[in-house]
Amino acid sequence: MEKPFTRKDLATGEFKIISKGRWGNADLYQFQRGQKIWVVKDFSPCPPFIRKTWGRFMVKREFQALQKLKGIKGIPAEPFLLDVYAVCYRFMPGTTLKETPSELIGDDYFFQFENIVQMMHQQNMVHLDIRNQRNILVTDDGEPALLDFQSSLNLENTPHALHKIMKDIDISGVYKNWSRKKPDSLDSGRRAHLESLNKKRFLWFLKGYPLGTKTDRRS
Ligand SMILES: Nc1ncnc2c1ncn2[C@@H]1O[C@H](COP(=O)(O)OP(=O)(O)O)[C@@H](O)[C@H]1O
Ligand SMILES: [Mg+2]
Repeated sequence: MEKPFTRKDLATGEFKIISKGRWGNADLYQFQRGQKIWVVKDFSPCPPFIRKTWGRFMVKREFQALQKLKGIKGIPAEPFLLDVYAVCYRFMPGTTLKETPSELIGDDYFFQFENIVQMMHQQNMVHLDIRNQRNILVTDDGEPALLDFQSSLNLENTPHALHKIMKDIDISGVYKNWSRKKPDSLDSGRRAHLESLNKKRFLWFLKGYPLGTKTDRRS
């Protein structure tokens, strides 16, 4: 299938920088083509060794995850590979959960967000970086979106014994953000679930960074 645009189109067109990566992180651009706005996540500016190993691996991982999750509303749509160093998908206008004041988050928001995560789990995918509020959007329509599938895993390639633990890591991220942003709407059942997950030793390492798969550029 023909790509919506090529690297040459990007180089000769106008794009906005969303963020500049350092070391192992990609540069992110916003690029308009006709009516559609795209995000380009590009590792090509990284040092050659990083680009050719880590960068290629991350691009492939994110592309495969988005491909598998196609059709779920709230997950970046129409993914394609610009080349082996960059993955592209549709831009969703909004603000990150981190930047969004609680008053601007609707009462349905976290119920819908939980639903996105459950639909992802039904496709046998786990995200593993949901605690990071920069990976979650409040769209201009007030709806949730989940971004950044660089740390995601396909459970079909993971030992069965780890599936529940990994899904629990995601769920604890959902409830953690829910309790930070909208504590009043977190019912006692979900709160008790979060507390029981927090007591599990295997989740303690989340106070650092999940599975050592990624370095956070900004915090
Ligand atoms: N599809 C998208 N729509 C809108 N904004 C996006 C989209 N993808 C990424 N962003 C913005 O770019 C930021 C970084 O994206 P992310 O995929 O988390 O990359 P990284 O963590 O490697 O910098 C997000 O916090 C968000 O602000
Ligand atoms: Mg991120």
